[in-house]
Amino acid sequence: MSTPNQPTPDKVMQLITGGWAAAILGSAAKHGVFDALTGEGDDAAGVANKTGISHRGAQAVLDGLTGVGLVTLSEGRYTNTPEASAFLIKGQPAYLGGMAEVMTGSLAEWGTLPTAVETGSPSATTTTEAADNDFWHVLVPAIAPLSLPVARMTAERLGIATAGPVRWLDVGGGSGIWSAVWLEANTEATGAQLDWPVVNTIAKQFVTKFSVADRFETIDGDFHTVDFGSANYDYAMYGNIAHQETPANNVAIFRKFRKALKPGGTLLINDFVLNDDRTGHPFAMMFASQLLLATTGGNSWCQSDYRTWLGEAGFESVDIVPTPSPATVIFAS
Ligand SMILES: C[S@@+](CC[C@H](N)C(=O)[O-])C[C@H]1O[C@@H](n2cnc3c(N)ncnc32)[C@H](O)[C@@H]1O
Repeated sequence: MSTPNQPTPDKVMQLITGGWAAAILGSAAKHGVFDALTGEGDDAAGVANKTGISHRGAQAVLDGLTGVGLVTLSEGRYTNTPEASAFLIKGQPAYLGGMAEVMTGSLAEWGTLPTAVETGSPSATTTTEAADNDFWHVLVPAIAPLSLPVARMTAERLGIATAGPVRWLDVGGGSGIWSAVWLEANTEATGAQLDWPVVNTIAKQFVTKFSVADRFETIDGDFHTVDFGSANYDYAMYGNIAHQETPANNVAIFRKFRKALKPGGTLLINDFVLNDDRTGHPFAMMFASQLLLATTGGNSWCQSDYRTWLGEAGFESVDIVPTPSPATVIFAS
């Protein structure tokens, strides 16, 4: 019998098995289990038949998904919950199953976190400093759906659709999602992306799906060393990168952005940003451990860090705005 006001082990047990939940979700996404449940839903035999996985595997994954609340079971049939229908059906713009697959693949690296915590140095086999590393090639298409609503929100806020023949530089643009969304909104605009060569190839294919590739250009190289030019761009983006860099690197890169922007131009930084007392969105708070694991000097930086660095780099106005995702956007001009 439970005693009132006594803690139960439920929350701790849920967290202990958090890696199981991620792997069950990643496995279901990889094998199209949620797709197999669209419409009327199905039983384990039906899911196995539609997806080509084993009956035993289908049943285990369906049990797990029911346990974590992503599918429901009624009269022997499993159906997707509204969250699964919105975010886990392949081909949808908001699809997060690719990210679940990537996270499942990185669970072995997370097993080394106790070492990184002890030493304060990364324990992952590849850090973000490795040029054009394979992790980026799988990560960037997988995280595009997270950036999609943010790219849309910023385009709307800045009135990109009616801004005329504007031009921007997206540094570490990854899949090219920001350029795709902004170019789609404004048919007179042109966008450039600086990233590693293989990532840029992935971006060109991605942007083609939005029918805007003719106004999208790529620059191959390391953003630490490539010159961004002078007074060339109306906007610049730095999305999900500041967290991998040290404070000194961020100031140096922000200075290059200030020089590359036309007078009055705007830099947009999208990242998982903490409040100044180190509270914030749970994703941003846990992300500090991902950065310990895989970077030598990265962190979930606080709002005041960005304000200080942007001021040092010559930006006069800084606006910090929440987004429909766990990320925050900073507008600096
Ligand atoms: C986390 S992803 C973010 C992608 C994109 N901005 C977004 O928000 O979806 C980081 C990107 O930065 C690129 N990148 C990391 N370090 C880089 C470097 N030193 N030079 C050029 N690109 C780099 C990676 O290839 C990857 O595309």
